[in-house]
Amino acid sequence: MDIPATVDQLLPRLTLEEKAMLCVGRDFWTTHPIDRLGIPSIWLADGPTGVRKARHSTEPGIGTSLPATCFPTASALAASWDVHLVREVGRAIAIEAQAQGVHILLGPGVNLKRSPLGGRNFEYFSEDPLLSGELAAAFIAGAKEEGVGTCLKHFVANENETGRMYADSIVDERTLRELYLRPFEIAVTKSKPWAIMAAYNRVNGTFCTENAWLLRQVLHEEWGHDGIVVSDWLAVNDRVAPVAAGLHLQMPGGPLAERIAEAVRTGRLSEATLDGVVKELLTVILRADAARRPACTFDPEAHHQLARRAAGECITLLKNDGDLLPLEGARLTEIALIGAFAKEPRYQGAGSSEVVPTRVENAHDELVKLLGPSVRIAYAAGYGAGDTPDPALLQEAREIAVRSHVAVVFAGLPPSYESEGIDRNHLELPPSHNALIDTIVEVQPNTVVVLINGAAVTMPWAGRVPAIVEAWLGGQGAGGAIADVLVGRVNPSGKLAETFPARLEDTPSYLSFPGDPDGRVAFSEGLFTGYRWHDARAIEPLFPFGHGLFYTTFAYADLTVTRPEIRDDEVLDIALTVRNTGQRFGKEIVQLYLHERAPRYPRPPKELKAFQKVALAPGEEQRVHFQLVRKDFAYYDPQAHAWLANSGTFDILVGASSRDIRLSHTVSLHVSSPRPVYLDRFRPVWEWLMHPRGSALLAAPLARLRQAIGGTAEGEMSPMMEAIVHDLPVGKLVLFGAITESELERILAEVNAEPTP
Ligand code: BGC
Repeated sequence: MDIPATVDQLLPRLTLEEKAMLCVGRDFWTTHPIDRLGIPSIWLADGPTGVRKARHSTEPGIGTSLPATCFPTASALAASWDVHLVREVGRAIAIEAQAQGVHILLGPGVNLKRSPLGGRNFEYFSEDPLLSGELAAAFIAGAKEEGVGTCLKHFVANENETGRMYADSIVDERTLRELYLRPFEIAVTKSKPWAIMAAYNRVNGTFCTENAWLLRQVLHEEWGHDGIVVSDWLAVNDRVAPVAAGLHLQMPGGPLAERIAEAVRTGRLSEATLDGVVKELLTVILRADAARRPACTFDPEAHHQLARRAAGECITLLKNDGDLLPLEGARLTEIALIGAFAKEPRYQGAGSSEVVPTRVENAHDELVKLLGPSVRIAYAAGYGAGDTPDPALLQEAREIAVRSHVAVVFAGLPPSYESEGIDRNHLELPPSHNALIDTIVEVQPNTVVVLINGAAVTMPWAGRVPAIVEAWLGGQGAGGAIADVLVGRVNPSGKLAETFPARLEDTPSYLSFPGDPDGRVAFSEGLFTGYRWHDARAIEPLFPFGHGLFYTTFAYADLTVTRPEIRDDEVLDIALTVRNTGQRFGKEIVQLYLHERAPRYPRPPKELKAFQKVALAPGEEQRVHFQLVRKDFAYYDPQAHAWLANSGTFDILVGASSRDIRLSHTVSLHVSSPRPVYLDRFRPVWEWLMHPRGSALLAAPLARLRQAIGGTAEGEMSPMMEAIVHDLPVGKLVLFGAITESELERILAEVNAEPTP
């Protein structure tokens, strides 16, 4: 079908009422069909961790949706740092969407982890915009390969759950561009999702659903988004303003389409604007319909195995003193498995992303299956459903721990601790879980803690426990994946995609999260979130961004950079050798960070610019290649409203984590057309003196000023007066009689006549 031509034919045949109807959903999940013109209805369903298709389009369906494979949540998947894996998962979820008749998946989510307290952090990839954007781009591309659309969410600065429907995120433009918009920009420009979800909140005073700057200028004009914008569910406050701002589809449905038609009739909304929106919407509806494969089926067992493999790729070994893991030899004969999560795992987060799984594995049963009857596995629940430690359960757990060669304690966050709609108010595990770990490690030196949680937690016992495994919310195959890792069948290869802080007080938004009672959320830490903050403030995290261990080791060597200096748009090729120096097959995640030595504006000491996961057999080595281009060196200049790179010196830092830099190289960047500097009457004397024309134009007035203050043109002045003059806005020279107003106007015009060379 020639979709553009069909849309052009359909548009003039639609009545005003039909056009308005198309812009508002029919019910919870579908769009209005226009039967007389053959315009189909499409189905949108939650999909970041699996398809959540309600049984009827008129019901929300949380907990009652059709069974689908539950894959690891986004925070888990991100720990794999594996774009190929995420693409494969995206493809598998899309196949299930095809099989269930879903056209657009509501995901992935690329909000950043501004605070580890964010209630939906489990649904988001990372604190880093590059990692988030690349993984989202991979997911979108995978889904598209199977003819299914995605709705990238939640656009934008929806970083807290508290007051999410009315909160106003106050964010300066540079922070928005470099952090919160950036993952959207990467995913939109790389993979062109069919839809973007406008978030509930306001940004700098305007609701995202009505924000023409975001929806039209940034999304469409700057990034070339050619799909639609869908409101988050119930995010629309005014039926008409969103259409004018570039919002195509208001969800869920309701009886209010008439308002849009009425606005056109009364002249509040132009029909041409409505037509533009409907045209883009029809294009996506027809594209989605044409991509439908009604006969599509999927193999639940194959998808379950993918879910288990994916969960294994995400598991992050945080600590492994004395190589306690994997459990081999003597440690494998008698194991105490402790903690209710070993048998009744938590494997996904609560809220709209909740999938009804096709089946769920637990670590206890999978270990029994893997190890067979020769290994004695004793089990104790250790804690109940509540927070309060239960002495009887603790005693039972202690007894089996004493009798075994090793104790594996399953702990983490219960569903009530982590949910859409609720931010956390502390970073601790439930007291009952912490008490269990304390009890066991006291009697059993070979204690392994397996954590099941979707976001960072604090670990007061970390110094006393020799091995810690972060298993995340790993989806329905997580139990098997944990068993695989514990016995060494899988070498863990995840790394943290978010900083684990030592204390809540160390986190950047500690004083401003989740905002004030009026819903004002000041992103006052600006660019300094996560590792950017910890680096800048020299704060030691519990575990740093990018950290993860393996059952093998890797050595880094021979960092080469094509040239020591690059100019303008030249590309910098970087390569290094990574070698598996251990005894097992494993996967290393190589990270490249950039540090600018003397930035014009404050800049985080380190920014992730590239990463790669490499698989190596024991003794094998590989050259790993990266490229950096001008935008990688750039920052978002708040004056010029543009990405700019300045000439300067940059350190390329390559390492195994943000705090484990193994190799570095220094390069110079030469930019031949630097940021144009516009001088006005409020710019200080020092800045005029640095300007090639400004210093000449200011020479005479400055001499007169010195004379006025110091008595002579050379002007002996006290250090204090020197400092005041240095920083004096040039307009103030008028007040000293050092320049007339008309003379000032003349030199202002002359200094800004052409851009600085
Ligand atoms: C969530 C979205 C979700 C939608 C539909 C909203 O509450 O914020 O992420 O896609 O509901 O379930």
